[in-house]
Amino acid sequence: MSKKIDQVTATKWKRVLAAVKQITQKRMIEKQLGIGTYFDNWVLSLEESQVIPSQALLNGMLAQLNDQRFCDFKSRYRRRATTLSDLSQSTVILSQGLKGGLSWSGLSLLKSAFDLALYVRLLDEIRPSTIIEIGSGSGASAIFFADLCRSLGCACHVTSVDVRIPQIEHPDVTFVEGDCSNIARLMPISQLRTVPRPLIVIEDAHQCVKEVLCHFSSIMLPGDRFVVEDSADKQEIIQSFLCDIDSSFLVDTAYTDFFGFNGTSAINSFLVKIDR
Ligand SMILES: C[S@@+](CC[C@H](N)C(=O)[O-])C[C@H]1O[C@@H](n2cnc3c(N)ncnc32)[C@H](O)[C@@H]1O
Repeated sequence: MSKKIDQVTATKWKRVLAAVKQITQKRMIEKQLGIGTYFDNWVLSLEESQVIPSQALLNGMLAQLNDQRFCDFKSRYRRRATTLSDLSQSTVILSQGLKGGLSWSGLSLLKSAFDLALYVRLLDEIRPSTIIEIGSGSGASAIFFADLCRSLGCACHVTSVDVRIPQIEHPDVTFVEGDCSNIARLMPISQLRTVPRPLIVIEDAHQCVKEVLCHFSSIMLPGDRFVVEDSADKQEIIQSFLCDIDSSFLVDTAYTDFFGFNGTSAINSFLVKIDR
């Protein structure tokens, strides 16, 4: 995973390491009460000599030096056409657990450990007033979003669409039964225009993805968000949506790259609507 540093890269490595250590120390003092994460402590323990780390950790270090949070989908997609994520296949597979996945309120919650943490961060930052989820599953994710928003003190209503809706009730959740191929009929534009903002739309049904993106993008305002889950196989669809329909979305790397480059099932697809 690591290799001996050679003469050519030695100077560059020394410079990168010094800069990353400086940024890490500053962040720890200013934002973390001086307490380091595993990554921070690992960076600070690194020596200039012997080895450079694995590509994923090196990318993580280089990301510290990049201030550009929002970036173009196309550039990321092209740049890493072969390596979509720095998470290894085994890490991805293990991230939903070995014994049937996570749960919330006793219901099966089909999120990876990484995505679950990213949603906590997203809701804490965005404080959405409306969440629309396509693909309810057991209903656990919708209830989890609603409970989390309530505990954060933000008034949010979650609407979750599925061909087969769960028979559960929650004061902040509406389950809508229907096929997302009929999304325009299930959730008419005239009703969507007035939903309270900020709005987060989560695509987790893996059907009619482009139609779903087109439908909701037409009512999105700057700051509203799309999360397209399990999107390794949806990259061309997303690119085509951004090319043909609406280019006013950027990738928010504060989420996609929080656990390393595309350390999420939402590969290049924590998207934010911008004012273009
Ligand atoms: C991956 S599961 C959703 C998991 C859930 N969001 C969670 O995080 O636990 C996908 C869901 O999409 C639903 N689904 C599949 N095709 C659909 C369609 N055409 N319209 C609406 N829902 C659909 C399935 O019934 C299933 O419940």
